[in-house]
Amino acid sequence: KGAALVDETLAPFRLSQDQLQLVKTRMRAGLEAGLKSKGPSTVKMLPSFVYRTPDGTEHGKYLALDLGGTNFRALLVNFKKGLQHNSRLYHKIYTIPQEIMQGTGEELFDHIAQCVSDFLDYMGMKNAHLPAGFTFSFPCEQTAIDTASGTLVSWTKGYKATDCEGHDVVSLLREAIKRRNEFDLDIVAVVNDTVGTMMSCAYEDPQCEIGLIAGTGTNVCYMEELKNIEKTDQKFGKTEKGEREEDVQDEVTEGEKKEGDAEIPRMCINTEWGGLGDDGSLDDIITPYDLEVNQNSLNPGKQRFEKLTSGMYLGEVVRQVLLDLTRGGLLFRGHVTETLKTPGIFQTKYLSQIESDRLALLQVRSILQQLGLNSTCDDSIIVKEVCGAVSRRAAQLCGAGMAAVVEKIRENRGLDHLNITVGVDGALYKLHPHFAGVLQETARILAPRCSVTFLPSEEGSGKGAALITAVARQKHD
Ligand code: BG6
Ligand code: GLC
Repeated sequence: KGAALVDETLAPFRLSQDQLQLVKTRMRAGLEAGLKSKGPSTVKMLPSFVYRTPDGTEHGKYLALDLGGTNFRALLVNFKKGLQHNSRLYHKIYTIPQEIMQGTGEELFDHIAQCVSDFLDYMGMKNAHLPAGFTFSFPCEQTAIDTASGTLVSWTKGYKATDCEGHDVVSLLREAIKRRNEFDLDIVAVVNDTVGTMMSCAYEDPQCEIGLIAGTGTNVCYMEELKNIEKTDQKFGKTEKGEREEDVQDEVTEGEKKEGDAEIPRMCINTEWGGLGDDGSLDDIITPYDLEVNQNSLNPGKQRFEKLTSGMYLGEVVRQVLLDLTRGGLLFRGHVTETLKTPGIFQTKYLSQIESDRLALLQVRSILQQLGLNSTCDDSIIVKEVCGAVSRRAAQLCGAGMAAVVEKIRENRGLDHLNITVGVDGALYKLHPHFAGVLQETARILAPRCSVTFLPSEEGSGKGAALITAVARQKHD
């Protein structure tokens, strides 16, 4: 009887092919609406002003700053001219304490400036005055890549620093650097992590025209045809559109060496697909546990797709299910402990460990023990099953979203069959034992006319930000 009740609890997480198909259709509608929309849309479809992927001519030394995943990273990248795939990279990783993520904007950017200062000291480069690219993994409205400005639309994930939304994040960083009065930095580009990841993977594989993050948050960017991006025309008016077309001409000439249809002007769009469902369009698949997670989050009502699919929330969904099962007497002998009531105990790395097939149940129990949860053998089986249902749904939903994106690209190009590579980063993709497989399988089933290769990013999105900085630089040299 217990097993039947657990099954019943998990049933809403088990999505049918029809439901996944519907999610794909809704994602497609979200992409289209975002491209057209004058005002806000759930899938924001933010123009990145990156017109092409790298072609190997990029060169020079760049600093890259990478904020918004689990950590803040500072990197030094050196691209050698003419020698493709020959970049040298040094980096250092810093954690951002929660009180800084959720304190004042000034504190947050002072903290980043301090990390940069530490990195420059470490590299012995305090006086170098290097061009820098800034990977900032939140939705930003941009107007042109080389002006290096981006207005934060809204914080997502675990961030909530005051006085940043509606402000240009590059100016905030420049001001913090000025306050330190210790070193100079020439910030040339601000990039979303999806865009940085796509660029960095495209440096290795020219078929890479999509960037995916499945980590703390979830998001996708892809190369869209300029003629489909109606919102930029409306937003920037005639003159700017003219300037933009000139820019595109430059880029296309540089890109002609690449095979295929380089003559079609494109721009990378940061979809911000995590916002799908913010208008209620996913309500039919949302469970009571998801509602709870949404309510307890820093941004209730926002990023509904992200809350079903990304590392920051999956452990919380699991915890809500476990709480319910415990209250129903089906788990932990019916004892709701303080530990189980503690938000955030199930980080992605624990989910990944619990779901590992190589792990004996006794080891699952020992992980639960580490988390402060005393379990029986039966408990550990149920916990593993709950984790599996929640993470499988996440991967399937991302797969359905990806199917919508690749189908759109295929149709854009009028192809019967599309071969495309997706550059991927994020702890959920890289560390979880089943996420990548289920994602790939779902995309394959839902987009049968596309062959999608997933290429894990090896050096993070910072290298991509440096490549974009290099492109922006070359244009002005
Ligand atoms: C890193 C990228 O490797 O992955 C970041 O360099 C990105 O830009 C991050 O934000 C995403 O993964 P996670 O798991 O840290 O959110
Ligand atoms: C969140 C952010 C988005 C970012 C993603 C992955 O969804 O809004 O900009 O790309 O997380 O880090």
